[in-house]
Amino acid sequence: MKPVTVITHPNIALIKYWGKRDEVLHLPTKSSLSVGLGSLATQTTIASTSELIDQIIINGETATPRIAQPILDFLTLFKNMYNINQAIAITTSNNFPTAAGLASSASGFAALAIALNTFFDLQLSRAKLSELARRGSGSACRSLFGGFVIWNQGKQTDGHDSIAEQLFTANHWPEFRIIVVVVSGEPKKISSRLAMQSSVNTSPFYAQWLKESEQRLLKMQKALAEKDFGTVGQLAEDDCLGMHKTMHTSQPSITFWSPATQVIMQSVIELRTKHNVPCYFTIDAGPNVKILCLDNNVSSILEYIKTIPDVSYCITSKIARDPQ
Ligand code: PMV
Repeated sequence: MKPVTVITHPNIALIKYWGKRDEVLHLPTKSSLSVGLGSLATQTTIASTSELIDQIIINGETATPRIAQPILDFLTLFKNMYNINQAIAITTSNNFPTAAGLASSASGFAALAIALNTFFDLQLSRAKLSELARRGSGSACRSLFGGFVIWNQGKQTDGHDSIAEQLFTANHWPEFRIIVVVVSGEPKKISSRLAMQSSVNTSPFYAQWLKESEQRLLKMQKALAEKDFGTVGQLAEDDCLGMHKTMHTSQPSITFWSPATQVIMQSVIELRTKHNVPCYFTIDAGPNVKILCLDNNVSSILEYIKTIPDVSYCITSKIARDPQ
C-alpha cells in the first residue's frame, strides 16, 4: 500500500466549545465556531509496517504513553468500524508546540482521519470524517475544513449530526490575521476534558455562559458575513472571557493563564483603547494568546507585544485553507 501524507491546520474557536452532553462520543452542549490557523500545520504520514502493532512517531520520537494512548484508542475505534486488521506506521509532526493549548489534537486527529480514509481507500465524505475526527478530540471535527467553520452541536444521541461545516472559505476575508503569542511550550497540567467537566459540574456561571454564547454564535455568523471586524473581535473576546470565568469559578478553581497571559490580554486592551489599534484576544485551554486583527495592524501589534518579557515568540497566521 502506498504511504499517504496529509497536512491539516489547528483551529481557534471564536465561539467556544466548552462542555459535553456525551463524554464518550464527545457531543457538545452547544455549537461552536472557529477559524483555521494557516501558518500552524500538522503533517501526518501513514505507511505499512512489518511490525505487528501500530507504530507512532511524533516530532521524530516514539510517542510517550500519555500522548500515544488517545491515538491508539482512536485507531482501535476506526479499525473496528471499518473491519481493518492491519498494523500501520504513523509519523506525525507539528511546526508548533504539542499539547500546549495550540490545538495540536485538533489538527492531529483531523489529519489522522483523512490519512486513514485515503490509505485504506474508504472514500468517506468529509462530513463523515468530521464525525470521526470528533471522536479523537471534539474540536478536531472543525479542522477538516479551512476558513471559518461551524460545529453544529446536533441533536441525535449517536452524534451523526454533530459535525462541522465550512461557513466561509479563507478567500472570504484575505486581510484577517491571527497572531499566536507563545508564552510557554510546556504541556498543560490539566486536560481540557477534565477542566470542561469541572466547569459544567461546578461553576455557578456555566448555564449563563451557555445561553450567552449561543446568542453570540448567531451574531458572530452575521458579523463574519458582513466582515464587521469590531463585532467579530468583541464577540470572540467576550466568549473567551466567559468560558475562562466558568473555569475560574469551578470547584476547585482552574486557570490556564500564566502571569504573561494576563499582561498580553491587558496589552491588547491598551492597544485597542489607548492607541486605536483594532485588535482582540482569544485564549483556549493554555497560557498562549491569539490576537485577532487585520493585516495592516500586524506590525504595530507585534512591536508592542514583543516587548513583553515572557513572550517567547509570535506566529502571524492567515486563515487556513482546506487540508491537503
Ligand atoms: O477539543 P478539545 O477536547 O481539546 O477541547 C477544546 C476546547 C477549547 O479549545 C478550549 C475550545 C474550542 O472550542 O476549541
